[in-house]
Amino acid sequence: DSELNLVYHGILLPKVIHSEESLKYLQNFQFKDDDVFAVTYPKSGTTWMQEILPPLLNGGDLSSVETIPNWDRAPWLEETRAPVVLDKLPSPRAIVSHMQYNLMPSSFFKSKAKVIYVARNPKDVIVSSYHFHKMVTFLEDPGTFEEFTDKFLSGKNVFGMWTDHVKSWRNPELGDRILYITYEEMLQDLREVLGRILKFLGRELSAEALDRVVNHGTFKNMKTNKMSNYSLVPDDFMDNKKSHFLRKGVAGDWKNHFSPELDAKFTAVIQEEMKGSNIRFPWD
Ligand code: PPS
Repeated sequence: DSELNLVYHGILLPKVIHSEESLKYLQNFQFKDDDVFAVTYPKSGTTWMQEILPPLLNGGDLSSVETIPNWDRAPWLEETRAPVVLDKLPSPRAIVSHMQYNLMPSSFFKSKAKVIYVARNPKDVIVSSYHFHKMVTFLEDPGTFEEFTDKFLSGKNVFGMWTDHVKSWRNPELGDRILYITYEEMLQDLREVLGRILKFLGRELSAEALDRVVNHGTFKNMKTNKMSNYSLVPDDFMDNKKSHFLRKGVAGDWKNHFSPELDAKFTAVIQEEMKGSNIRFPWD
């Protein structure tokens, strides 16, 4: 443990939002079969899922998006808010998590709760994470982009190795309980991805309701919604003068941050870690 982070199963987690108590809550959590569980490595589309899942589950009602902050609408299973809000959330519940598969509580493996795994190009993940580290006081100063990349590639960053996370959730035991989508597909055609999610969940929404959810899920609209843009967080935790939580919302910003040498090194490490996994991503 350090001043800022605790260590959970070898993984660093920020203390401000994780505690012994919240991790105990995670371990004892009882999944319900109709829970919808969105899993992401940080900076891969979590807030986006918190925006679109509740209205997809409640017939297109956008009131929660307009009145409840994203972290209470679809809470993080492992964070300190979970014990406060999750038990009171009406079913079907939307829940999010940054945890690896092997850290799920035993009830997860017995339940039929469906899982949506959102992946994002790790090069854009690290860029987003780098800017986030600069604006929040509860994460270590990231140093230079090169230094930050070294930490990311050796799992010495918060939430551990990106490759471990991605691989862990490809476990065949999950069968058709899990849907794999990418941040890039959501950017390209949110409506199509939402259609796929609805089909996976065995739900329907009128074309008009779906249009409304798509409209609410645009970067522009989320950025101006104080229930989604993290402006409710006090400045001494998240300094909106240094960056923004909803920063750019694009694919490929890594090209503005990686030198050719760093790109080659990053690609080589990721390829080595992913060797033998048969996982192919659209950005590969
Ligand atoms: S966290 O801290 O793990 O919850 O962060 P997370 O929400 O997973 O990721 C934040 C990045 O997602 C971008 N984002 C979006 N992009 C496009 N459209 C929409 N609607 C959207 N919502 C969130 C957000 O801008 C962060 O990416 P960057 O690259 O920093 O802009």
